[in-house]
Amino acid sequence: MAGVEVLNHPLITHKLTQMRKKDTGTKDFRENLDEIAELMAYEVCRDLPTQPVEIETPMGKCVGYELSKKVVIVPILRAGIGLLDGIRRLVPTAKVGFVGLYRDEETLEPHEYYAKFPKNLDEAIVMVVDPMLATGGSACAAIRVLKEHGAKNIRLVCLVGVMEGVKAVQAEHPDVDIYLAAMDDHLNENGYIVPGLGDAGDRIFGTK
Ligand code: PRP
Ligand code: URA
Repeated sequence: MAGVEVLNHPLITHKLTQMRKKDTGTKDFRENLDEIAELMAYEVCRDLPTQPVEIETPMGKCVGYELSKKVVIVPILRAGIGLLDGIRRLVPTAKVGFVGLYRDEETLEPHEYYAKFPKNLDEAIVMVVDPMLATGGSACAAIRVLKEHGAKNIRLVCLVGVMEGVKAVQAEHPDVDIYLAAMDDHLNENGYIVPGLGDAGDRIFGTK
């Protein structure tokens, strides 16, 4: 079974704390999310494969190392978009795909409304990104769609998760590594993470 890693880092924790505060406005919420995404990307990319390449520096020839696999970032719309730019700053050659899902407020079931991916997903390291891992329904559905499109090497990057969501992903997709910035306590009766940070999409886009 793949692993779950909670990326404990004082900078990540500090920024996440700003996001959690109910009085933090859209601008600060988005900026902190963007900065956390960059910090998380550094850790999530720690084991990316590299290959030797012969290069010539101004001083002569040597062997350097370059990333050997294509990276594809797949934000789950909408809220996943908030993590995209921060990761792309560290992996600017990454291609980007999208899965559009919304969670029915009554049943908490995810509904797919959009999917668009780059070619040759089977050869890529795919990062599915979303701030919230609650019931895990959205992450499971996004990973399912990616696998149907050929993705074989998938990691899930979320900001805040709970055990329910982690267990759901592990049960359906035991091959997927999960990275979180925080593991929170529980889900409330409406499927919201407690203490969490509220509705990530609404706070990023100012829709409430
Ligand atoms: C939120 C969040 C995840 C999902 C998590 O999206 O961004 O995609 O809920 O919940 P789950 O683990 O129980 O599936 P939402 O459906 O609110 O859509 P949005 O991003 O468009 O706001
Ligand atoms: N989606 C959110 O945006 N927040 C939660 O706490 C749970 C699901």
